[in-house]
Amino acid sequence: MNWKIKASLQKLLHFTKIGDRLNHIPATLKKDYHKNVCLYQFYECIRKFEASNIIVKSEPKKTALEIGTGYSLIAPVILSLLGFDKVVTVDISKDVSIKTFQKQIQYLNNHEVLQKITENSNYSLSEITERLQQIQSFQTLEKLLAYCKICYIPKYTLADIEAVSNSYDYICSQVVFEHISPAFLKELFAKMKCWLTKDGCAVHTINFIDHFANPGFFQDKNISEFNFLKFSDETWEFWAGNDIAYTNRLSYLFYLELCEATNLTVIDFQGENYRTHNPLSAKEIHEDVIKKYNKLSTVEDVCKYQRGTLIFKK
Ligand SMILES: C[S@@+](CC[C@H](N)C(=O)[O-])C[C@H]1O[C@@H](n2cnc3c(N)ncnc32)[C@H](O)[C@@H]1O
Repeated sequence: MNWKIKASLQKLLHFTKIGDRLNHIPATLKKDYHKNVCLYQFYECIRKFEASNIIVKSEPKKTALEIGTGYSLIAPVILSLLGFDKVVTVDISKDVSIKTFQKQIQYLNNHEVLQKITENSNYSLSEITERLQQIQSFQTLEKLLAYCKICYIPKYTLADIEAVSNSYDYICSQVVFEHISPAFLKELFAKMKCWLTKDGCAVHTINFIDHFANPGFFQDKNISEFNFLKFSDETWEFWAGNDIAYTNRLSYLFYLELCEATNLTVIDFQGENYRTHNPLSAKEIHEDVIKKYNKLSTVEDVCKYQRGTLIFKK
């Protein structure tokens, strides 16, 4: 389906109060949706945590911050099962519910999953199994969050985060940064520089592709996954300048420049291409896209990776 159809529908939805939720419904209708979300969140949470090399077992007690909770609480619950003493998770919208959580949490009850959590955790296998049983028994979000020492802040501000703590051992996000404007990213990176503890680590997975090329009913199969880089800022603002469709069209190079400008030490950047790669040629990339960078040795580099994991320290 032509991407402009999805873009037009999202523009319409954005004018309604429940637009974000309506936009999310098609994804939830897929077979095994909750199982897939749970296992994806588990796998990605452990993968990022292992990349941080943080040892939760060592004293003092550790605090984690997740940016962009989304619809699932699986990642913060796993951070709690790993042994973080406090987990703060924030989002600009309020999308989690106990009902969704109950449909997902059962899929952690699997030997391989529990074993993997145990390998990285402060708790033993029997303690994790017992905690998981407790977690599955809660009927309200409040009881679940209190037990796991999770502080969920929907519609957050940076000051809200600091009101809970201004010191974090681990900061993570999963496919969130691409939805944040360059101006707010600059503020957030400056804050992460202040918030990270001396040995703390941040691990962020970022998707760099045009979300109108994402799989699903509305996927436009006729465009490159970097199609959005062909347009001026003004044209892109017209099609996707709303809170449902917004993506910042920034490549991994922008985040590396941001780390440098913020004096954050990049430990690693792991770029990936997880689907057929259809990069644009230099002449197809709009100058508005190119001018977002201080320096680009090769213009085509903005299409080099579809997804990546950025790991940095203070
Ligand atoms: C693609 S979803 C990913 C959610 C979750 N991390 C996951 O893996 O399912 C992107 C999320 O980023 C959130 N988001 C957008 N701008 C944000 C911001 N400035 N700060 C925190 N979260 C934001 C959106 O509300 C949405 O929940």
